Amino acid sequence: MKNTSIYVHIPFCREKCSYCDFLSYSGQEERAEAYTSALLNEIDAKSRYIENRKIKTIYIGGGTPTSIEPIYIEKILSKLHTGFDVQRDAEITIEANPGTIDRKKINSYIKSGINRVSLGLQSTDDDVLKSIGRIHTYNDFEKSYNLLRNLGIKNISIDLMMGLPGQNLEDFIEGLEKIMVLKPEHLSCYGLVLEENTTLYKQSLSGKFKFDEDIERDMYHVLIQRLAKSGYIHYEISNFALPGFSSRHNMVYWNLDDYVGLGLGAHSFSDNCRFHNISKMKEYIEKANKLQPVIEDIERMELKNLKEEFMFLGLRKIQGVEFKDYEKRFASSICDDYSAEIEKLIKGELLEKTDGKIKLSLKGLDFANRVFGEFIKP
Ligand SMILES: C[S@@+](CC[C@H](N)C(=O)[O-])C[C@H]1O[C@@H](n2cnc3c(N)ncnc32)[C@H](O)[C@@H]1O
Ligand code: SF4
Repeated sequence: MKNTSIYVHIPFCREKCSYCDFLSYSGQEERAEAYTSALLNEIDAKSRYIENRKIKTIYIGGGTPTSIEPIYIEKILSKLHTGFDVQRDAEITIEANPGTIDRKKINSYIKSGINRVSLGLQSTDDDVLKSIGRIHTYNDFEKSYNLLRNLGIKNISIDLMMGLPGQNLEDFIEGLEKIMVLKPEHLSCYGLVLEENTTLYKQSLSGKFKFDEDIERDMYHVLIQRLAKSGYIHYEISNFALPGFSSRHNMVYWNLDDYVGLGLGAHSFSDNCRFHNISKMKEYIEKANKLQPVIEDIERMELKNLKEEFMFLGLRKIQGVEFKDYEKRFASSICDDYSAEIEKLIKGELLEKTDGKIKLSLKGLDFANRVFGEFIKP
């Protein structure tokens, strides 16, 4: 039986953060009931991609899934658990925003089978949090973190960002020390991407905010060293885990394995096809509730594109891409398919070739997009 993973998108947030371009709306939580009913219908409509497969991971992301009543999350997970083969040891994650969880919600999540929580902190500095429009302070975060722990969540991930307005290297290092004391199992740390259509992007155009790439890179280098000292394994460009706690769900994306996306704008990759859902809320709810298809676009991927994606997603992993995995999947050799590209990147010290695999070099980590670009041919 084939495996698959499930991504569930919950597009609601209390407030929109100034840097964020994820598909989410603030102040629309009253639509949560209609949205959930649409999502439950979509599960039926997409069952052919889910039935007869073992569900290894479920990821409830957003938006802020914890901003809606927990009964909606219960309904979605209950439908997946009763209708499909969710593995007993499946990793089931929910994204949470500090300040939106309490004892009742966490207990409900645990009852629904959730065993991993990804908590968005972004910065330990209250002034920075305020300036990017976060709805919580560092103290709120610590309260949420401790509550999750005390109620029994054994796998917590923390999201941090680098290069934010008002963030400096010293404070960032101090912040890391605070986090190390908490001993989360997993950390995701993202360099700020200035997304068009965000408040922060507008602030950068008007000169109110200037993104300093050098400071952001300094933070990244410090981060790698400091986390290694505390036993964290750097396993993907932006991700670090204590042994045994890598995100199994995200590994599905980087290994180009199958997953089914449910909800507004959600993307899927299944049986070598990529497809995604409608991204307009009203249309999504109306169509799904009339049992009409909500998929907007299906692309059967050509072999060439599959190989490219396997390479540039796989190279995000610090362990890189193993020759034998590529051969098993495509019945051809990486060195034959990409000999010129690999040679060029090794010469430029961006890629390393060691015992049966290729991986980003330390320098390559800073220029990953340039490396990935080499594998995409017109
Ligand atoms: C869907 S959001 C997180 C969930 C939750 N709503 C929260 O904010 O706590 C996923 C993560 O992506 C990261 N992120 C969002 N926008 C980003 C951007 N423009 N640049 C870099 N990282 C970003 C943040 O670290 C965020 O926690
Ligand atoms: S970072 Fe999280 S809380 Fe902020 S707007 Fe994006 S999804 Fe919502």
